[in-house]
Amino acid sequence: MKSLSPVLALIAPVYAGLRFPCSTLTIQRLDPVVEPGSIPAAHVHHIVGGNAFNATMEGDVGARATCTTCQMADDFSNYWTAHLYFKDPTNGTYHRVPVIPVQPLLGGSQGAQGGLTVYYTQFDLSRDNIKKQPVKSFQPVRFRMTVGSPAATSEPRIGLRYQCINDNNRGAEMSDFPPKTCNGGIFTTHHFPACWDGKNLDSPDHQSHMFNTVNSDGFPNAPACPASHPVRMPQVTYETVWDTSKFNALWPAGTPNPYVWSFEGTSGYGTHADYMFGWKGDSLQRAMDKSECFYDGCGALNKQAMSVANKCTIPETIHEETEGWLSVLPGGAKHEHSKQ
Ligand SMILES: *[C@@H]1O[C@H](CO)[C@@H](O)[C@H](O)[C@H]1NC(C)=O
Ligand SMILES: *[C@@H]1O[C@H](CO)[C@@H](O)[C@H](O)[C@H]1NC(C)=O
Repeated sequence: MKSLSPVLALIAPVYAGLRFPCSTLTIQRLDPVVEPGSIPAAHVHHIVGGNAFNATMEGDVGARATCTTCQMADDFSNYWTAHLYFKDPTNGTYHRVPVIPVQPLLGGSQGAQGGLTVYYTQFDLSRDNIKKQPVKSFQPVRFRMTVGSPAATSEPRIGLRYQCINDNNRGAEMSDFPPKTCNGGIFTTHHFPACWDGKNLDSPDHQSHMFNTVNSDGFPNAPACPASHPVRMPQVTYETVWDTSKFNALWPAGTPNPYVWSFEGTSGYGTHADYMFGWKGDSLQRAMDKSECFYDGCGALNKQAMSVANKCTIPETIHEETEGWLSVLPGGAKHEHSKQ
């Protein structure tokens, strides 16, 4: 990849946190944060991370898991989002949109299969700022949170975004699905809030124990945390690429966006993501205490080859067809939702 070297040279001085690929672990109707114990949960999720993932996750996930689909070998956390589907505008049937690895300029996907890229940033993409603003790892046991909501009917907050990939260019960040075909797929980003109330490992809405201080797109500086949520945690971000290219020919020009989230969300506003902490011991804290360590395990973490990560699997719990062509989404009733 000779052509990449000038780009890498430009990016080299960037040092501010962790960034690593995780392959797809499973695609099932399970959601231990929002619907613990529900077998099945309401809608299909795309899930990556450790093999302790199941419908009920209590106790020390990092101690219980024995493998992970993530590159950081001590990261047994689970990361998930709703799954994207294509709804054929002609006959109304659904097909799951394949997930492909993010192909970042820095480091590539390193052999990941599907999956998503995870970031834990300390301040922004170019500075860690940890002397002024130390970062506390999530509590080692039971910490969880969500961002966004399938029920959202207005524009989501900054940080929940779509980009239309054309000819390897991601284009502008948008708050809703792209209005026309993207030859390289749809890129989605989920930025979680980074300020914690210092007390609760979860909250009834899975969000109010956290607070977002970021008010512009991308990876901007994270302003100081407020008194209500005084503890600075790592800023967690997921990036996912949905390979919509094979559906382009089935989307007649000028007709509305045919992509829906797995809860039949025809509006892009319902995009959401879930996080379940599962780093082993103090491994994440060790990484967050290191300055200038972008994308290398921060000199404190063990990495594994993605060929090893790809061998980590969990059993299928919900035995149902999720891929397509399906007349009804898994868990869904056949009905039309009006665009929000
Ligand atoms: C999830 O895993 C835990 C730990 O192995 C186990 O105790 C629990 O019964 C499992 N839950 C389900 C719903 O399978
Ligand atoms: C709907 O359209 C898709 C795409 O052309 C096709 O593969 C599928 O078989 C069709 N399903 C039905 C029920 O007609």
